[in-house]
Amino acid sequence: MNRRYRKTIIAGNWKMNKTAGETKKFAEELKAVMPKTKWCDVVVCVPAVNIPAAIKAFKDMRVSVGAQNVFYEKSGAYTGEVSADMLKDLGVKYVIIGHSERRQMFGETDFTVNKKVLAALDAGLHPIICVGESLEQRELGITMELIALQVKSALAGVPAEKLRKCVIAYEPIWAIGTGKTATAEQAAEVCTFIRTTVRHLYGARIARSITIQYGGSMKPGNAFELLGQNDIDGGLIGGASLNAGDFMDIINAANQD
Ligand code: PGA
Repeated sequence: MNRRYRKTIIAGNWKMNKTAGETKKFAEELKAVMPKTKWCDVVVCVPAVNIPAAIKAFKDMRVSVGAQNVFYEKSGAYTGEVSADMLKDLGVKYVIIGHSERRQMFGETDFTVNKKVLAALDAGLHPIICVGESLEQRELGITMELIALQVKSALAGVPAEKLRKCVIAYEPIWAIGTGKTATAEQAAEVCTFIRTTVRHLYGARIARSITIQYGGSMKPGNAFELLGQNDIDGGLIGGASLNAGDFMDIINAANQD
């Protein structure tokens, strides 16, 4: 983290978990342990159908609600999809784009990720853009090339003044939901590389101000060390964000200088 230049953001990604009732219960549990002062921005990305319940439940807390996906068209015959304007209208602030589960299971590509990023920004949402390599790609030694490709294609056509609304999440696929976390050095190496890539595209000032998260089995036991890295400005947390106590422990781990 480097709070002098950029925001620290701790975001939960609930994936396909929790009903509206469970959302309310989680908010109450979090509220009971959440201090008034805040040292980072807190976001909870809930399933689309639970967005209204989450907006209501987190209303008087300093917690923003995020979505886990968005479609890039504004409206029309796209059965089952949700537009960026619809999310914005509900009070959503952030949207995860290009999560590896969507890339692997729902056919998302660097091309669709880019279109979604542009649509989200157009609607005034903050995209959380996910990038990350598979174990095979890491073992082949092509992690950095792949990350550069994902970052550059996701940001194609994004003007500099809108870049400050973007968050980039480095999520090595081999660490997601596996309990296997990247070491702080591995995570920091790639997050620093992402910042360098952004610097080449947009210059030093903008690169210094963008929030870069790490995601992949982040939990209370490893959050402090990961967040202690200069280029890791937060976390995108799956499993451990489902439990209010664990999530709060990770938020607390962001309280360091
Ligand atoms: P995990 O998920 O924390 O359960 O590994 C992270 C993510 O997929 O964003």
